[in-house]
Amino acid sequence: MDEFTKLLNKYDHPVPRYTSYPTVPYWSDSPSSADWLVSLNKNLSDDKSAWSMYLHIPFCETLCSFCGCNTSITKNKSRGEDYVNILLSEWENYKNEVQYFKQRPLKQIHLGGGTPNFLSSESFKKLITPIFNDCLINKDEFEASIEVDPRRCSVEQLETLAELGFNRISIGVQDFNIEVQKLINRVQSFEKVKMVTDTSRKLGMPSVNFDLIYGLPKQSMDLFKKTIAQTISLKPDRIALYSLAIVPWIKPSQKLFKDEDLPMGADKRALYEYARTEFLAEGYIEIGMDHFALPSDSLAKSVQDKTLHRNFMGYTCKQSEVLLGLGVSSISETKDCFHQNEKVLTLYQDKVEKSQVPTLRGHKLSTDDIYYRKKVMEFMTQLEVEIDNDEQAEDVKQFLNEMIDDKLVEVINGKLKLTEKGHPFIRNACLVWDQRLRLKKPDAKTFSKSI
Ligand SMILES: C[S@@+](CC[C@H](N)C(=O)[O-])C[C@H]1O[C@@H](n2cnc3c(N)ncnc32)[C@H](O)[C@@H]1O
Ligand code: SF4
Repeated sequence: MDEFTKLLNKYDHPVPRYTSYPTVPYWSDSPSSADWLVSLNKNLSDDKSAWSMYLHIPFCETLCSFCGCNTSITKNKSRGEDYVNILLSEWENYKNEVQYFKQRPLKQIHLGGGTPNFLSSESFKKLITPIFNDCLINKDEFEASIEVDPRRCSVEQLETLAELGFNRISIGVQDFNIEVQKLINRVQSFEKVKMVTDTSRKLGMPSVNFDLIYGLPKQSMDLFKKTIAQTISLKPDRIALYSLAIVPWIKPSQKLFKDEDLPMGADKRALYEYARTEFLAEGYIEIGMDHFALPSDSLAKSVQDKTLHRNFMGYTCKQSEVLLGLGVSSISETKDCFHQNEKVLTLYQDKVEKSQVPTLRGHKLSTDDIYYRKKVMEFMTQLEVEIDNDEQAEDVKQFLNEMIDDKLVEVINGKLKLTEKGHPFIRNACLVWDQRLRLKKPDAKTFSKSI
């Protein structure tokens, strides 16, 4: 057995992805809607504060069998139009409760899903124009981004988005190979992805991102090499290379995958390593756990000036005091509180129509949570983190002793650092800062495996 396989046997087990700390299964001290409004008002009271907005559009026309997102499958386009009205009502309710939203700069808006381009051009205008009119926006610094499914993306939609001021587009590619695409119920041509990429650039959008996934069924190394070559031929400014998260107990469509079709362990990781070598040779910079960016892109710049941040949307270079999530299942955060909207569309809609905050759950962070959240975020973005005192150094050495022996992390010059060899195991190393999980293991199957 080679060394990497031995390491996988030891460390490839379920661990959180750390897009939040505490991770969602450990949210306990849930805020009421009133608590949540207090937290928003408090965090925006400083006149130097700023905020970001996330809008969740849950609809997709068909289900991709690998999908782990919060989706609602329908071909009925009028549902998108009705949903825009609910989103606008939710925004209206917040404006009435938190005056600061109109007084503090909005730094970033992101439309995610589901498939945001399920909405028509008309719906985009109806949704975005009043929100932008309400908000303080400095156009030179503002980032407006959207996730699009290229199969459903028209030139007209892209023109509307560019006119509205969208300057970042993220295209769901996943894999270019037709056999893999058939197995994941998502057939889309290279030409379509190229059209969306080229059109976005022609319209002046400075940043195009591709989402790719490694570990998909029948994704052999030979086929994946072609997907990587095709990706490089279009030179996206950013690439997110996600490990397929296999969570069939949450997403039953993944039960359709045959075990023998899924690249696992060392074979799966080899796909990431191959892509990484190719991207680095092309001049991309590796960011955090699973992202790459051209040096000209703001994400790469934020690594250099240590302003890279991580939240529910993944890696981002804009940090603000408040992230307000609108839409079904959306998660919001302030410095001291997480908040999630109802996950069931009818419940969400019902509360919004009654002018209530559509609270499902959340978490008020304790002083310890705030401290460890900083550690987790620093480690996930900079791959190293300060150790604050001797007692902590002892604890880190004890908890990570096997990873230190295996040369995956090192404690040096008052810092915990991930080594090059330790890169695949960043999530395992991050466990040292997860005081909640260290105190109590999750009761049921919760997280995907680390590789
Ligand atoms: C909301 S989708 C992107 C927009 C659009 N719905 C699409 O698929 O093109 C967000 C991204 O999450 C990633 N994703 C979804 N399910 C995943 C899973 N089980 N494991 C890893 N990544 C996943 C995909 O790369 C996908 O592009
Ligand atoms: S991957 Fe995208 S298009 Fe496919 S089901 Fe998930 S959210 Fe919808």
